[in-house]
Amino acid sequence: MHKAINLLWAGKKLLFAASIATLALTGTSRAQCDNCTNEDPKQILLKLIDETNSPYLTQSPQNLMMMDDNPAYFVVDDGEALFAEKRGPKKVTLEQCDFGKGPGVLDGAYAEMPRYFKDTGKVMHLETRLLHCMKTIQGFSGDDKALKNKNEIRALMAYIGARSNGYKWNPPMDHPLEKAMRDAGEVMFYRRASLLDFSCNTCHGDTGKKIRASVLPSVKEPKEWTKAVSWPARRVGRATNARTPSQRLGGCNWQMRNGKINGRSDAAIAMFSFWTDAARGEPAILPDLKR
Ligand code: HEC
Repeated sequence: MHKAINLLWAGKKLLFAASIATLALTGTSRAQCDNCTNEDPKQILLKLIDETNSPYLTQSPQNLMMMDDNPAYFVVDDGEALFAEKRGPKKVTLEQCDFGKGPGVLDGAYAEMPRYFKDTGKVMHLETRLLHCMKTIQGFSGDDKALKNKNEIRALMAYIGARSNGYKWNPPMDHPLEKAMRDAGEVMFYRRASLLDFSCNTCHGDTGKKIRASVLPSVKEPKEWTKAVSWPARRVGRATNARTPSQRLGGCNWQMRNGKINGRSDAAIAMFSFWTDAARGEPAILPDLKR
């Protein structure tokens, strides 16, 4: 038994070595940034693996090999085009939207969300802030299809998210509401509920826990958790090209047999405040490729 496991590990290590070699050949160059790692998602992951040898991060060498060709890059491109398109009744782009670091500043903005916004008096996450800008800047309102077009919203989020690749998660905790939302998220994370009496912590409280073939990330290991919270991401087993943090939260909530959670609600924002805080200081992997 032991021998088999050792062999498996040796095999995995070889696969990783091979993917580092291909990376050296194919590594794409992206815009330089201050304050971030200047590495692409795969390289960031390889470094985290190097630092931890975590069973969660190392569970799929195949995924790692596919990261350079992550189909989510096409979604990011779609999002970039949509972002720069003059849309809505006011026929303007989203380029003046303030995601917290000033109008038009996208680099690193998502890594510092959720955050408090003075103009709305609320803690907002990427999705709610994006919708806010589509309404206030582009003039969409009420039943406008653009506010409900999940594919477009996902693409915009994937693009804005990717502009935080390699930035350390650093959601601000200066405003009392930012701290209150984070703390509310923490309560939600640890609260056991519903038919199975599970909390999020039941499955994500220790490193190396497994469900079927999946090794689950631990909230207590920031170097694991940073990959866990790196959404939007492509899931290889899914038809859609990128999935949002809200969809992941919805999925886990369903596994717990809890009532549905609205991804644009304060409850969801509170959970994201907590889960981003738990990854603080570690680099975002965006877009990520998930099992
Ligand atoms: C019954 C066990 C279980 C519970 C309870 C649970 N999860 Fe999960 N979680 C999973 C599984 C399974 C996955 C998917 C892993 C995979 O696809 O490899 C996952 C994935 C995730 C991910 C993404 C991980 C990644 O690899 O990208 C996050 C973040 C997450 N869960 C957060 C939560 C939160 C927040 C809660 C509470 C609302 C929660 N989970 C409750 C089992 C659980």
